[in-house]
Amino acid sequence: MGVGDAASGEVARRIVELAPWFHNLHLPDGSQTAPDHPLGDFPSFKWKQIAPSLPDDISGWSVLDIGCNAGFYSFELARRGGSVLAIDHDEHYLNQARWAASVFGLEDRVEFARLGIYDLAHLDRSFDLVLFMGVLYHLRHPLLALDIVREKVGGMLVFQTLTMPSHEAIAPPDDVPFEERELLLRPEWPKMAFVERSFAGDPTNWWVPDSSCVEAMLRSAGLEIEASPGHEIYLCRRAADASPHQQELDAATRRSTSVSR
Ligand SMILES: C[S@@+](CC[C@H](N)C(=O)[O-])C[C@H]1O[C@@H](n2cnc3c(N)ncnc32)[C@H](O)[C@@H]1O
Repeated sequence: MGVGDAASGEVARRIVELAPWFHNLHLPDGSQTAPDHPLGDFPSFKWKQIAPSLPDDISGWSVLDIGCNAGFYSFELARRGGSVLAIDHDEHYLNQARWAASVFGLEDRVEFARLGIYDLAHLDRSFDLVLFMGVLYHLRHPLLALDIVREKVGGMLVFQTLTMPSHEAIAPPDDVPFEERELLLRPEWPKMAFVERSFAGDPTNWWVPDSSCVEAMLRSAGLEIEASPGHEIYLCRRAADASPHQQELDAATRRSTSVSR
């Protein structure tokens, strides 16, 4: 057995040890971490939709990858020169990501941290590029999360979420009169379905919005949608106005007010 065979044997052993995998990483020796992924070659096929919208060279850019999982997007952005902070609240995925970073030789370009999305409210910095993909529907407090994410966006946000089948969007009226609540039943009114038990076998899938609801939530959080380079994917920038919800955000994240009775 040659040295190459021994190294590949070690890679194969670690892939099994660190399973199950959600990201199908293509490793330098040709092996893959989730070759039988039910969605196909995931998330390579999604990255192909996003990649042309980002500069080939992002040297000097700071990048935040929220819910990084095994690090697929972090590694792609590190290869383009970005300096990446990759966070996830699940140690299982962070272990995969840290190991993969060493296999790719990208440890110096990607820092992994066990942090939840709501912890970001207490991280006092913004990033040139923020990725917030595949996380929103796992959260019980999606608007709070978007308000927090907005503060981290110094340049561009790449956002993706699960959606339900959608109708053509309508322009939001300035007001819905109380006696005209029928309007809310129109198919094109923004909707987000709440899932009490489980969706697609995952009890952490709480919300399934339609596309007009996603777009309305992004706007409502003070984010401007610039483009949609693929299904369920949005490129956004922070709107120039101050957050319309600063007070509630500060209160919800305990950055303001102590309660005295
Ligand atoms: C569906 S995967 C998406 C992974 C990756 N962002 C992508 O788009 O391929 C969701 C990831 O978000 C992480 N996650 C879920 N809730 C989170 C939270 N509250 N804070 C941080 N990460 C979270 C999960 O552990 C998981 O790695």
